[in-house]
Amino acid sequence: MATLDALLDRQVLFFGGKGGVGKTTTAAATALAASRRGRRVLLVSTDPAHNSGDVLGRPVGPEPVDIVPNLRAVEIDAAREAARYVGEVKSRVATLFGPSILKEASRQIDLAASMPAAEEVALFDRIASIVADRADDTDLVIFDTAPTGHTLRLLRMPELMDGWLRALTRSRRAMLGIQQDDRTDPILVSLAERLDRLQAFKARLLSRRVTAFVLVLMAERLPIEESARALAQLDEAGIGVGALIVNRVLPSGSTDPFLQARQSQESEYLQDIDRRFASLLRCRVPQLPRDVHGLDALETIAAALCPGGPS
Ligand SMILES: Nc1ncnc2c1ncn2[C@@H]1O[C@H](COP(=O)(O)OP(=O)(O)O)[C@@H](O)[C@H]1O
Ligand SMILES: [Mg+2]
Repeated sequence: MATLDALLDRQVLFFGGKGGVGKTTTAAATALAASRRGRRVLLVSTDPAHNSGDVLGRPVGPEPVDIVPNLRAVEIDAAREAARYVGEVKSRVATLFGPSILKEASRQIDLAASMPAAEEVALFDRIASIVADRADDTDLVIFDTAPTGHTLRLLRMPELMDGWLRALTRSRRAMLGIQQDDRTDPILVSLAERLDRLQAFKARLLSRRVTAFVLVLMAERLPIEESARALAQLDEAGIGVGALIVNRVLPSGSTDPFLQARQSQESEYLQDIDRRFASLLRCRVPQLPRDVHGLDALETIAAALCPGGPS
């Protein structure tokens, strides 16, 4: 069976899949394995239902905390990012146009910020800046993401934002009555900077050497269907799927009739997975007797996923 070892030298890994399949567990285990091999890892949870603290066995919050040498973890929260984003927009408006304009614009900014998409945009902005400006003290960023649909929308956001920034640039130029970029206009300069950063993010997201998406599932019907859909959409978006993790595989050889029945169903689904995802690297993680809580249990998962040596 394949292992995840080959992915540990990437710079960005996204772990995605249906709720409850083990994204947080396998993302944290992979982060631990990479840190043990000397890569400086930042584990980033973007799922509003944060539970990385629970898996790591210590509190994790909105600022990165040290877990073990070479491993830090952070939980980013869409509402908090949106508030921060709005604060930044306001201070930019204040510097560009002065406090009286800010007072007028504030109501509209607050209104825009209360739209449902605002949190998504702010979260995307934070993810993009973590990826694009990957700090000098980090070799590998691992994103433990929200259930599939949400994450896929987020990863398609560059296209939307690109179109939106270009439209804003055109209307600003039209307003100033110019054809080309005017490096003296602060709004055009700021739009050009944002476009540059977006391009940098896109280039890193789409590079197979830099980024891989890891799909996590269990050998059950619904997660299989959801993974197949996600794979198609990621392909369409040009994002490489680096591996598929089949989590919670039952131990074999039980004589208990109930477990035998479960296992015979599982083995059909495992065959189905091997057939439908034949082109992907596929790893299996055993079902442990207990929930995965704390570093010792994570080591067991890490050993199954990344045993070291050639995969
Ligand atoms: N291989 C495993 N063996 C036993 N329990 C597991 C395993 N993988 C995950 N779990 C448990 O399943 C639950 C859901 O896992 P989690 O990683 O939080 O899923 P997700 O992040 O996809 O919602 C947790 O209680 C976790 O401890
Ligand atoms: Mg989770």
